[in-house]
Amino acid sequence: MPTSAATLPGVQQPLPLSAAGFSTIAGFLRQHAGIELNEDKQSLVQSRLRKHVVASGFGSYDQYVDHALRQQGSALITLVDALTTNKTAFFREADHFRFLETDWLPDACERTGLKRPLRIWSAGCSAGHEPYTLAMVLSEAAERTPGLAFEILATDLCTTVLRTAAAGIYSQVDVAPVPEALRRKYLLRSRSADDTRVAMGPELRAPLQFKRFNLVTDPYAFDAPFDLIMCRNVMIYFSNATREQVIAHMHDVMAPSAHLIVGHSESLSGIRTPLRYVAPTIYQRPLEIAS
Ligand SMILES: C[S@@+](CC[C@H](N)C(=O)[O-])C[C@H]1O[C@@H](n2cnc3c(N)ncnc32)[C@H](O)[C@@H]1O
Repeated sequence: MPTSAATLPGVQQPLPLSAAGFSTIAGFLRQHAGIELNEDKQSLVQSRLRKHVVASGFGSYDQYVDHALRQQGSALITLVDALTTNKTAFFREADHFRFLETDWLPDACERTGLKRPLRIWSAGCSAGHEPYTLAMVLSEAAERTPGLAFEILATDLCTTVLRTAAAGIYSQVDVAPVPEALRRKYLLRSRSADDTRVAMGPELRAPLQFKRFNLVTDPYAFDAPFDLIMCRNVMIYFSNATREQVIAHMHDVMAPSAHLIVGHSESLSGIRTPLRYVAPTIYQRPLEIAS
């Protein structure tokens, strides 16, 4: 059985995270990232932090947390990265991408007259599977639609996943949900026969921009409004008050008639917002009629 540094005989085990230490982390994450950690997450937090605590040589989890919060810089980024949940997949919740093809695209093309690129924001993009899926779907549409151009801004709070997203290199298991025809068209195999990983092709990378953005604390200062925002499986960890605040900001940076898509287990019910319900998990900014 492999032996990790954390279980090596003779290696001092850090003292466990105390209730007070957990409450410090929970308070910080709530304030800094909007993420709510219930008390039943204490052992999860400890297991996520284990390798960092051991590597940094602190005698207890509480000392490590105190250090990260005081030091602010890279230790804090490591702490936030360790505590975000980044599960994602190519073509996740595939009916959303069908909706984009059948409803959103025709509507957005007609509304803009294709006089400018369509602007899309993948907010909480994790390791890039969602924005690359968007790039594939839109590249296919662009082939069928003369004049269609698009830009995708992909953002996340977690720097580790953003690095993977920007590198754009994935395992065969990761790309398994990508339809075979799209895999052949857009994904590049390694020159080395031993390396089975694939890279996202240049057509998918060109319209994409990756950036760190905190949905809860950063100013929503963008150059132009978005025609589509996908913010899926991100706000599930937020309180209703935080969700309402984030949705209000998003509303303000959406073009009239633009759509917001949230994850399958989410809804905006109970949230005050001018966005109108289109279908489960799909919302639209109303067209404002000038008086
Ligand atoms: C479960 S993943 C969802 C990824 C993708 N949208 C999907 O549905 O497959 C949630 C992502 O939200 C990010 N996140 C959590 N809180 C955030 C915040 N306050 N600002 C920006 N991103 C945040 C996490 O880092 C994580 O990568």
